[in-house]
Amino acid sequence: MAQQAILERDRWQPSVIEGRRVRLRRHQPENLARVLRWYRDPELARLTRYQLRPMTREEVERFFQSRLLGPDSVAYAIHEAPSDRLIGLTTLSALDAENGSALFHITIGERDAWGRGFGTEATELMLEHAFERLGLHRIGLAVFAFNDRAMRSYEKAGFTIEGRSRDAILRDGRYWDEVQMGVLAQEWLARPRPARSKR
Ligand SMILES: CC(C)(COP(=O)(O)OP(=O)(O)OC[C@H]1O[C@@H](n2cnc3c(N)ncnc32)[C@H](O)[C@@H]1OP(=O)(O)O)[C@@H](O)C(=O)NCCC(=O)NCCS
Repeated sequence: MAQQAILERDRWQPSVIEGRRVRLRRHQPENLARVLRWYRDPELARLTRYQLRPMTREEVERFFQSRLLGPDSVAYAIHEAPSDRLIGLTTLSALDAENGSALFHITIGERDAWGRGFGTEATELMLEHAFERLGLHRIGLAVFAFNDRAMRSYEKAGFTIEGRSRDAILRDGRYWDEVQMGVLAQEWLARPRPARSKR
């Protein structure tokens, strides 16, 4: 029975998803130390969080145990290939089986790994997983309008802008919109094959 459950999970949540520049792996308990360091980085908080207050150790541990290690979470650690260095994490949340939708999140925590194509490829791997393995219909996300690198990366991976919550966040002395982006299964599947697979 336990063996059956493991096989079932491997089908829906393979332990490794291989890309060209990155490899997605299921999280291991030892990833916690690095995740704690990332979540205490003020620049990461500026880019991703409504509150600049650093998350407490307990909050990060709770997030790690429930959202990253939990048996039902669609969460992967992002490893640089071929060195296998752990550089970030990516998750799907708010999985809604009835409507075939989920929300996408990504954090590359190692700053020296920004702007080198890792995030876009990890996003593409997660979209491939969501649409081609899990059979979802729609993936959405929210991003602060000042986060140009993230928006550019999401657009390259196939997301388009669907709307904006005006002046949703006060940051660096002014208000900024929060931008909603989304991609549908048919849009993903219409992309040229090499763009969505090495793979
Ligand atoms: C957002 C993130 C996942 C993107 O991943 P990445 O590996 O850094 O991005 P990529 O290198 O794949 O692509 C970035 C693109 O943005 C461009 N870019 C980089 N900095 C930019 C800037 N300041 N303004 C505009 N475009 C920028 C790059 O040139 C590249 O586009 P190109 O290939 O057309 O030249 C990653 O930077 C990250 O995790 N950042 C910190 C956390 C975060 O912002 N998460 C998202 C929250 S919604």
